[in-house]
Amino acid sequence: MTTSVDMVVAGSTVRVLVDPTRTTAPGVPTLGPSIGEYPCYDTVSYARMTDDEERNRRFRAALARLAAGRVVLDIGTGADLLWARESVRYGARRVVAVEAMEESFHRAGTWLAEPGAGERITLLRGVSTELDIAPRAEVCVAEIIGSLAGAEGVAAVLADARRRHLAPDAVVVPHRCVTLAAPVAFRRLLGGAPVAFAADSLGYLRTIFEWHGSPFDVRLRVKDPARDALLGGGQVVEVLDLNGHLPLEQRRSVRLTIDRPGVVDGVLTWLRLWCLPDGEPLDALRVASNWASVYFPLFDSEHPVEAGDTLDLTVTSTLGEDGTHPDYHLDAVLRTSTGTRSASHSSPYRGGGFRHHPVHRHLFP
Ligand SMILES: C[S@@+](CC[C@H](N)C(=O)[O-])C[C@H]1O[C@@H](n2cnc3c(N)ncnc32)[C@H](O)[C@@H]1O
Repeated sequence: MTTSVDMVVAGSTVRVLVDPTRTTAPGVPTLGPSIGEYPCYDTVSYARMTDDEERNRRFRAALARLAAGRVVLDIGTGADLLWARESVRYGARRVVAVEAMEESFHRAGTWLAEPGAGERITLLRGVSTELDIAPRAEVCVAEIIGSLAGAEGVAAVLADARRRHLAPDAVVVPHRCVTLAAPVAFRRLLGGAPVAFAADSLGYLRTIFEWHGSPFDVRLRVKDPARDALLGGGQVVEVLDLNGHLPLEQRRSVRLTIDRPGVVDGVLTWLRLWCLPDGEPLDALRVASNWASVYFPLFDSEHPVEAGDTLDLTVTSTLGEDGTHPDYHLDAVLRTSTGTRSASHSSPYRGGGFRHHPVHRHLFP
């Protein structure tokens, strides 16, 4: 069941297709806008992260190994001051925690009353790239990792941090993140439910549009996608080595091989993350966590495919207009027994048009 909801954004009305029967719940495929890269964190999204045990045990294992006696910088500490407090618990000598969003910063401040926190944690309000921070940190926790690994701007934020905030041999947590991609048909990702936004995603959609000043074709976040929608294994299309070479922009080409008959109209992308080089990775498609996946439409309609067909995919990330958050661009060539089809899709951080692709015209009727 779907219904249209009228949303007023910056004086104009946007019609949004909603499935009122669907709200985000564990294991239920739902659609929403990708939110991590926009300033729309609220109590619900922070609680999902603070309660995300699969994620948290990996970050804790890294801090247990690295924090004792060290100066730690927590970039994007969030409303729960989480990794700053955990760093103190694991014996950090001193912690500087930075938070960009004003309300989150104030809520984080209430945790400083906890025993031991106020003496060792300094909490700063602002964006790390615009702050002066001293002393230089020996360990940096930067959980500014998106469902598309680089979408929250971690490469540019860390390049700045290495230059201005970190000691020369500082260790960053997480250690490495990659984005994978696999061929899919959008409709199948939602497990048979109508293609419409989940009821509880509308508030985020409104916040993103208001931040932008107008509607645009948001990235499509699919939480708990139906696994049988994937028509092939995932290949790595973005690599972020946070303790190694970390380019601000990158381009990767892969060949995705279809492994069974079906239909394809785009790709699903998702995160794999390592907090320690020898730690167990978190794969967002295999493990229940707060991270979702992102669907990118490529073709205007579904194309039948057979096992052995291929989708050649190139994913390019370039720095967006704010110099921090990447714009993504995808080029694809689908080769089947009936011919070869090319497609491309641009997903800038800001703007880039509204209702450009049929799927966005469907979702914003
Ligand atoms: C994914 S949340 C993580 C929150 C918390 N650290 C956790 O792991 O549960 C990212 C947080 O970082 C903040 N943020 C993102 N980039 C930042 C930056 N460059 N400087 C300061 N805060 C930032 C966001 O406002 C948000 O609160």
